[in-house]
Amino acid sequence: MSVVRFGVSIEKELLEALDDYVKENSFSNRSQAIRQLISDNLAIKKWKCNNIVAGSVTLVYNHEKSDIPGILTDIQHDYHKLILSSQHFHLDNNNCLEIIAVKGKAKDLTELAGKLIAVKGIQHGKLSMSRVD
Ligand code: NI
Repeated sequence: MSVVRFGVSIEKELLEALDDYVKENSFSNRSQAIRQLISDNLAIKKWKCNNIVAGSVTLVYNHEKSDIPGILTDIQHDYHKLILSSQHFHLDNNNCLEIIAVKGKAKDLTELAGKLIAVKGIQHGKLSMSRVD
């Protein structure tokens, strides 16, 4: 891949934020950080499309807070065509880890994951996807 140089005008504050980002993520220079930011952003855009992808939704929550398990089950029934399997692990007395394997259109999985992760009381939620078409 050929590399092209271009000039960028940017506010001082934004440049300082970029330099912090470079340091925090141990990038070797600003160019590397900018490349990463652009490709992350493009990947997110791709996830909003009709490509068939497979992946997982990972959720961590305290099952004693509100009715999280019931709400998660309702949402999964609404989207049952996208769900391959789900696994529930009791991490300790209160905390649960749920891993839901999913396959379907990227935009549909993004919608499903968004609903699951947005359930009140979810401590951590993440969708990861790989293209399969
Ligand atoms: Ni549990």
